[in-house]
Amino acid sequence: MTKRAGLPIAAALAIAVSMPASAENIKIGFIATFSGPNASFGKLMKDAVDLYIKQNASSIAPHTVELIVRDDTGPAPDVARRLAQELITRDKVNLLAGVVFTPNAHAIAPLLVEAKVPLVIMNAGTSVTTTLSPNIVRTSFTLWQSSYPLGKWAAKQGIKTAYTAVTDYGPGHDGEAAFIKGFTEGGGTIAGSVRMPIANPDFVPFMQRAKDANPNALYVFVPAGPQSTAIMKTFGERGLGASGIRLLGPGDITPDDELPNMGDTPIGVVTAHHYSMAHDSAANKAFVEALKKEHGPNYRTSFMSVGAWDGMAAIFHAIKANNGKFDADKFVGSLKGWQTESPRGPIMIDAETRDIVQNEYMRRVERRDGQLFNVEFENLGMTKDPWKQIEGKK
Ligand code: PHB
Repeated sequence: MTKRAGLPIAAALAIAVSMPASAENIKIGFIATFSGPNASFGKLMKDAVDLYIKQNASSIAPHTVELIVRDDTGPAPDVARRLAQELITRDKVNLLAGVVFTPNAHAIAPLLVEAKVPLVIMNAGTSVTTTLSPNIVRTSFTLWQSSYPLGKWAAKQGIKTAYTAVTDYGPGHDGEAAFIKGFTEGGGTIAGSVRMPIANPDFVPFMQRAKDANPNALYVFVPAGPQSTAIMKTFGERGLGASGIRLLGPGDITPDDELPNMGDTPIGVVTAHHYSMAHDSAANKAFVEALKKEHGPNYRTSFMSVGAWDGMAAIFHAIKANNGKFDADKFVGSLKGWQTESPRGPIMIDAETRDIVQNEYMRRVERRDGQLFNVEFENLGMTKDPWKQIEGKK
């Protein structure tokens, strides 16, 4: 009888403890831009995501991840919301990730709590975005993180007057407000401000207005990618640099992957940002080399690569921390205060705001071995989103 009742308790416990956890297949709905003028963003992000999975899949065994990729076509909130809805209800994803453009993130945010799905934002950089749902964690950046210290830095350099020109939507409004606050707190004066359309902008009239105002410096934000190359060329061709106006901005105006398309105009341009392909660390060298090995020696990484890479590192951490089984609360909970060494330097997810904390670097575009790079010359240190600090937002 005793024998049939089963194993002695100690033996039964030993078996239970050593039993492998049930293998979970975690479905990630990955939404980014893969078509239209900003198609390079989706490719940069997915290249990094694929590499991360390739290098780290064994670390989450017996669990696996499955990527379900969707193209939101650009800043298109209606498309992004429909894709997110389909991924949640039809594909039954465990989480959403990606999202290049702020309006798309804002269209997805209201769906998350009811669906009990977390969203890891790997690019969209408007400060308010993370406050729109407790299910959002961000591994990219905010415009306030770069542009507020940049404004202070510019004033410290003795730059007296500045003009601002930004794309007329979330991150542009943030960049403008952040730069103006930092610059005027440091004693600078704003000579004027313009906002430029997000779709098919012709930068000529805006650069002409900036030139006519004759400031010491021009602060620019446009979405990285073809717009950054177009405005850089217009800045050069309209003679703003030649007339002594210094171009400043977040790293979005000199993204590493676009520098080869920009001619010589960006040489000397100073930006503040969290990632440079030329960042001098072992982690970044390994990251750049691994992507070159996958895609060829001319491959250029950018801040979109690192936002996606660290987003995957966050997801893998949450999978491990929850042994493959999580709801949105557990997922987000396991990332509060999470730290890692990223190719950009050390990063942390702020436990209060779920937003990223990271070093901001001052950089200058220089030619090295025949190629242009953002060469870091000052580390401004670990930076929380200043907007949330100033406004007391969570
Ligand atoms: C955004 O929409 O939040 C965004 C897009 C491109 C950038 C930066 C921010 O370069």
